[in-house]
Amino acid sequence: MPEQTTPSARGLSRRHLLTGAAALGTAGLGTAALGTAGLGTAGLGWGAHHTATPVDGDMAEPFHGTHQGGIATPPQANARFVGLDLGEGADRATVSGLLKVWTEDAARLTRGEPALADTEPELAATPARLTVTVGIGPGVFAAADAVDRQPSWLRPLPVFSIDRLDDSAWRQTDLLLQVCADDPVAVAHAVRVLIKNVRSLVTVRWSQRGFQHARRSRPDGTTMRNLMGQVDGTANPATDQFDRLVWDDGSKYPWLAGGTSLVLRRIRMELDTWEEIDRSGRELTVGRTLDTGAPLTGTDEHDEPDFAATDRHGIPVIPPSSHIARAHHTHDGERFHRRAYNYDDPPEPGHVSNSGLIFASYQRDIDTQFLPVQQRLAEFDALNQWTTPIGSAVYAIPPGTAPGHYLGQTLLGTLT
Ligand code: HEM
Repeated sequence: MPEQTTPSARGLSRRHLLTGAAALGTAGLGTAALGTAGLGTAGLGWGAHHTATPVDGDMAEPFHGTHQGGIATPPQANARFVGLDLGEGADRATVSGLLKVWTEDAARLTRGEPALADTEPELAATPARLTVTVGIGPGVFAAADAVDRQPSWLRPLPVFSIDRLDDSAWRQTDLLLQVCADDPVAVAHAVRVLIKNVRSLVTVRWSQRGFQHARRSRPDGTTMRNLMGQVDGTANPATDQFDRLVWDDGSKYPWLAGGTSLVLRRIRMELDTWEEIDRSGRELTVGRTLDTGAPLTGTDEHDEPDFAATDRHGIPVIPPSSHIARAHHTHDGERFHRRAYNYDDPPEPGHVSNSGLIFASYQRDIDTQFLPVQQRLAEFDALNQWTTPIGSAVYAIPPGTAPGHYLGQTLLGTLT
């Protein structure tokens, strides 16, 4: 039998062809990559497996729009947060070139189409509500000679007394890729493609893998549970409050209109000691019940907590030291949108677990909305005994984009 007709030999030769072509595409970052994608995908017939039966994997979130996806989007089951630094000597052209590639690739992948120079195009056929959200750190403003446009709140958070930050991991980076989808394969593929197509320009510093409940394991819209078993994400602004609390209006930084900011904290959970306290102790620590997530003063998850209510001995029903009493906003301007994911990574030798929360919060202004709350929690929060912040980074999230434009263009495209 001639070599090229056996399936494995055919696979090998295609792989060779595509690997060589991908390398070309990466170097060229543009037209070369375009040509490559055509070459690779034509032979492989990506998407050809689709049948008449609709499956969740076919569901796609819009990429283009006023805001980037992955923020107001109902949380997908899987997330990856990747921190990257620009290479030595990166300038404005480097940054805009990179953002153009990411925009083009993300637009295609979120539609369920292979990215440019996609060597595994079949993996793109299941977007599963894929979103790609790009964040930029202070290093981008420095590289692009745009520090005059850097929001005043875009700087590493102060170090809090509760922090045990690991300097070699989970720290501030120049760029962030947040990739979410209901299918972990879609996430892995998108992350791989997005990074490899710009690999000569960036270094990956860390990659945080997060998850919530699998799609359809519970009714849509059900608030997730974290690995302490708590209903987590109840008291969040409604989407009609996002214009006020989350999306920037461009009044201070015109380029940011429609964008926002992200605080990303990696918070370890001390599950072994948490499990030593009884159920009522756990509920008093947070101020909500474990079964429904209702405040201790209510019966339904979405009941407003009554922080003034006392029992017949005059003791507050929701302890003032509880997490929600301390975290609750003292005025409307202290609210933000939390969109956290669980992590559960391989434990260090001798430990049972390595679990916690990838805490992600989005707000117009980190200094006025997020910091006062974080400061209060650092000063006192009953939950602190079982949670330890080990990572911290902040990013500006540029607005969404229209076809033919690229993410970050409002920042970089108009500079002279
Ligand atoms: C591992 C760390 C954390 C855990 C396990 C946790 C868990 C929870 C839980 C179970 C609730 C109640 C349900 C809800 O409204 O979502 C809650 C509420 C809240 N958390 Fe956290 N949280 C953590 C860290 C943080 C951090 C770092 C902040 C901000 C600095 C924060 C801010 C809030 C706010 C603002 C609320 C709503 C309070 C209210 O108005 O009722 N949390 N959290």
